[in-house]
Amino acid sequence: MKKYFFVSTLLILSFSCKYVAKKEAGTLSANPFSYTIHKKITCSNGAIVSAHPLASMVGAAILKQGGNAFDAAIATQLALAVVYPGAGNIGGGGFIVARTAEGTNIAIDYREKAPGKASRDMYLDSAGNAVLDKSQNGHLAAGVPGTVAGLFATLPYAKLPFKQLIQPAIELAQNGFAITKAEAASLNTIQEDLKALNTQANAFQKQTPWKEGDTLLQKDLALTLTRIRDKGKKGFYEGETARLIVEEMKRANGIISLEDLKNYDAAKRNAVVFNYKDYQVISMPLPSSGGIILQQCLKMIEDKNIGAMGFHSAAAIQLMIEAERRSYADRAEYMGDTDFVKVPVKKLTSDAYAKERMKDYIPGKAGNSQQTKAGVIGKESEETTHLSIIDKWGNMVAVTTTLNGGYGSRTVVGGAGFFLNNEMDDFSVKPGVPNMYGALGTEANAIQPGKRMLSSMTPTLVLKNNQPFMVVGTPGGTTIPTSVFQSILNIIEFGLNAEDAVYKPKFHHQWMPDVVYVEKDFSQPVIDSLKAMGYTIEQRGQIGRTELIKIQKGKADSAYTFEAIADKRGDDDADGY
Ligand code: DON
Repeated sequence: MKKYFFVSTLLILSFSCKYVAKKEAGTLSANPFSYTIHKKITCSNGAIVSAHPLASMVGAAILKQGGNAFDAAIATQLALAVVYPGAGNIGGGGFIVARTAEGTNIAIDYREKAPGKASRDMYLDSAGNAVLDKSQNGHLAAGVPGTVAGLFATLPYAKLPFKQLIQPAIELAQNGFAITKAEAASLNTIQEDLKALNTQANAFQKQTPWKEGDTLLQKDLALTLTRIRDKGKKGFYEGETARLIVEEMKRANGIISLEDLKNYDAAKRNAVVFNYKDYQVISMPLPSSGGIILQQCLKMIEDKNIGAMGFHSAAAIQLMIEAERRSYADRAEYMGDTDFVKVPVKKLTSDAYAKERMKDYIPGKAGNSQQTKAGVIGKESEETTHLSIIDKWGNMVAVTTTLNGGYGSRTVVGGAGFFLNNEMDDFSVKPGVPNMYGALGTEANAIQPGKRMLSSMTPTLVLKNNQPFMVVGTPGGTTIPTSVFQSILNIIEFGLNAEDAVYKPKFHHQWMPDVVYVEKDFSQPVIDSLKAMGYTIEQRGQIGRTELIKIQKGKADSAYTFEAIADKRGDDDADGY
């Protein structure tokens, strides 16, 4: 049968629930060889935004089949592992931040762990120099994957059988799907790496360039997913899949062992929860720095009436940059996995500390990262993907999941068909040596067996008057917390609509390097004003791919109205009904 393919990017296409019926059909609910991308949807029974239209369709279909937001989160992540191999994954890890309709906050940590044979200086050469090639590329870069454990830790909150949630992913892997233009271009950029970093041929390699509409078939991955369907968590962490991972390791000096896999489990954490004016923010705690940075940044500006300064005014941007500078200095100094190191979280997130940190902020004058060190604590008692979901009961789910860099280590597990992460690079390989996102770290984030590497991922929920108001998150390495910070302020302080809040150009500062990064379409007059204050500005490629759901009407108005916005910066897609 001749397969055809059609993707149209309709940037600001708004369509109401009745048109979504075209997306219904069997378990998958869509033709994976012919699909369209929708950037915005308004609906009231359930909404989902993810990085790929087929994954969003799977999530929406699960919602329609009676599943809740947790069911949809599980099914969508599994679908992303097939249709978005650069970041969707079963060989990586992630975080889920959720709030049940009854008001219980949930944070599940399925971040990768350093293997048992990992050691503090494993990426240093004999002269003590950091060899980032090893922490970023190939077998040794991989941490013990956490995603499958995370899915099973989410399952108790779901309603449908796991078999139903994983079936669409199995079918997409087994029967294939048409790749988008962006995916084709992206797969073409890694062909050399795939040759260099793999011990066996895999589904992502091709003699001639990939092009839009080509079918990606992943038979090995379908078998792995089938083992997970039939044997549950053990279908990944034990038996055949574990054996294939360890054999892959042995072929190229990797160190993940059968024991590392068997011992891996996801961890329940206490979500970061704080008030900002009339809003309550719920986000991810350590080992992600994201929730703490978000809390610090919002608390440092809370008393400064930023709304009155105006959206993208130089004054507002300067204030945000200075808050960012101070929290990223603390990130580098203090933050790491609290299962291994003591982090002064209470102090870092106290209102008094935020005030103290901003004492030397001077409106109109750039701060200086050489002088701005981490705060004094004293004693104290570019590839990831995000999905946002809400259902008709009011369950809110935010998931950010990652392989770290695009396609992670670019090593595929032979016979099992999935990419392994290169998350080990998120550790501080050597104090003072920046990782691939320019982040610095210290002892708090040094490598130790079984420890989780520090993350920036910030899946976040916002409530207003204790009712669902926003689900938001993004990929983007260290730019993640600052993008979430901006998206929230864009709506609640600057009065932007949800689309503009996501689409307007973003900026980023992370203490070191002492540079303000701006997207290409950032306003030149604002750049000039910031330069006049003493800031160094650099243009860079796109910042993040924010997936945002805004709850326009609460249940108190008889039924919800959700507005879901998929970022224009990729193939991201909004769906729902
Ligand atoms: O956990 C982290 O902070 C990083 N591994 C995330 C990487 C990322 O967002 C890359 N995406 N563009």
